Formats: sequence, structure tokens, C-alpha cells
Amino acid sequence: MDHLLTICDLTVAEVGGIFELTAELKAKPERFADALAGKTLGMIFQKSSTRTRVSFEVGMFQLGGAALFLSSNDIQLGRGETIADTAHVLSRYLDAVMIRTFDHQDVVDLAAFGTIPIINGLDDLLHPCQGLADLFTMKEVFGDLSGRKLAYVGDGNNVAHSLLMAGAKTGVDVSLAVPPNYGPQPEIVDAARDAASETGATLQVVTHPAEAVADADVVYTDVWASMGQEAERAKRLQVFQGYQVDAKLMSAAKTTAVFMHCLPAHRGEEVATDVIDGPASVVFDEAENRLHVQKAILLKLLT
Ligand code: CP
Ligand code: NVA
Repeated sequence: MDHLLTICDLTVAEVGGIFELTAELKAKPERFADALAGKTLGMIFQKSSTRTRVSFEVGMFQLGGAALFLSSNDIQLGRGETIADTAHVLSRYLDAVMIRTFDHQDVVDLAAFGTIPIINGLDDLLHPCQGLADLFTMKEVFGDLSGRKLAYVGDGNNVAHSLLMAGAKTGVDVSLAVPPNYGPQPEIVDAARDAASETGATLQVVTHPAEAVADADVVYTDVWASMGQEAERAKRLQVFQGYQVDAKLMSAAKTTAVFMHCLPAHRGEEVATDVIDGPASVVFDEAENRLHVQKAILLKLLT
């Protein structure tokens, strides 16, 4: 592994290897206390974050290394210095960079111009660390991923894109229910379908939530307006009416189904309070697993 820009760049075996290492890291974190001694991760944030920032920073600390929070408000990137120059310079100081930004091309360019591993910590197109943590969480809950189904209800956004790819690489069927014109990008669906041919996973995009959720092991949703879409929020609240994950929709899934959400959540919008705060919700396990999965990614990239 050279970088983590998109889950589609990983082989099926690499995803399996990340999950194996994640389980070891979670069970015996003390065994890895010096694994990244002397290494420094830079973390560029052009958008807000709670989980990504804290889990990467704590993860580096727990592995014996250090992390630097680089807000784009405070570094020259925010004043027009190019991605290329930023990549060249940071490669001279750091061992790896995690970036959260808008344009996916900026993540690709950072990797192309720099000489150190780049990790995509979310962009407008993808959220690979989230997709990997979610499928790892699903494996923990069900023991085995083969033959499982994840239903995603809502916006065909960065999280939906990475779940399609993560399902494809792990053999999990993914069914998306999205309003017309708010679906996943066709090239992402095509890339995920290509990847799925190796594992046998099926990927489906429909418009009716109940259709996606039928026989699902996981019902997943995300916010209706992502970071950067604040101006569309009022319109989106209208468009997504009927796409809330509530108790009735959960009852259309398997009786053993769990509820997942990458967080942050808007209770009363994409999810009903009694679902996200109810017994089927595993949202905080997902959030915790961001830490363990990212530590595995850091070890794969830096050792
Ligand atoms: N799920 C997620 O990436 O959360 P943050 O935006 O808080 O990092
Ligand atoms: N789709 C959301 C995910 C946040 C973790 C966003 O991009 O804002």
C-alpha cells in the first residue's frame, strides 16, 4: 500500500489484511506502543471534524508517533499556495499526510507531487476510512461478512460511494435507496461493480427505501446536506422527505438488523431519535472503530 486515496485502489487481500491487523490492534494495543516511534503524521483540514481529527491524532500517539493538526485557515494552502508546493515541502518534514478537503483531485495531486503516503480523510467524492471502519464494524457484529447485505438510505454522497466500494471489496451486497437526481455518481458505481466481480457482491441503486432495506443486515444513513452543501440545505430537507430511517423502515429489514451512521447525525432528519438511540444502533462502535482501522492503515503505510 502506497496511499489510501480510494478503497478501489486496495486489493481484496489488502482489505482483509487491514481488518486482521485492526482486530489485533483493538485486542492488544499495547503490543504496538512503539510501532511508529519517531514518525509524524500531518493532518490537513479544510473542513470540520470531530472523529477523524481526534482518532488520527490519538492513533498516532498510541503508536508512539506524533500528529500535527494543520488547519487550512492557518497554513499557506489557505492563502493560495499550490497543492504541488505543499506536497513537496511537507514531504521534507513529515512521514505521511492525512487530508480532508473538497475536491478529490487535490487528494490525488498531493499524492502525485509528494513522496510520502497520503490518506484521504474525506473529500466531496469519497470517505474511505469511514467505509473500511464500517465494514470492519459489520464483521464484528455478524462474525462473517459473506452473504450479508447493507442498505443505505439517503444521499448518494461520499459516504455512500465508499460504502459501495467497501461492500464490493468484502463481498457484502449494497443496496442504495436515493431520491431521483441524488444518486451515486455513475462512474463510482461502475468502479465498484468492477471490483465486486471478484467477490460476487451485488450493488443495487433504487428509489424506494423499503425496497433497499428488505432482508438487510445493516440499515445505514448519513446527513442530507454534506459539508459544502450548506446553501442547498433547505431544498434538500424537502427532497429527502420520505427517506428518514425510522422504526417502521427498520422493521422492513431483518429482525437482527443493526443501524449505522457515520456521524455527525441530525436526529429528526435522516434518522429518528428512537432508532439512533435505540438498541439496534451501533453508531458509537463505528466511531470507535475509526481509531482501530486507521491505526492499521497507518501501520500498513509506514512500516
Ligand atoms: N464520520 C466522520 O468522519 O466524522 P467527523 O466529520 O467528525 O470526522
Ligand atoms: N457526508 C458527510 C459525512 C461527514 C462525516 C459530509 O461530507 O459532510
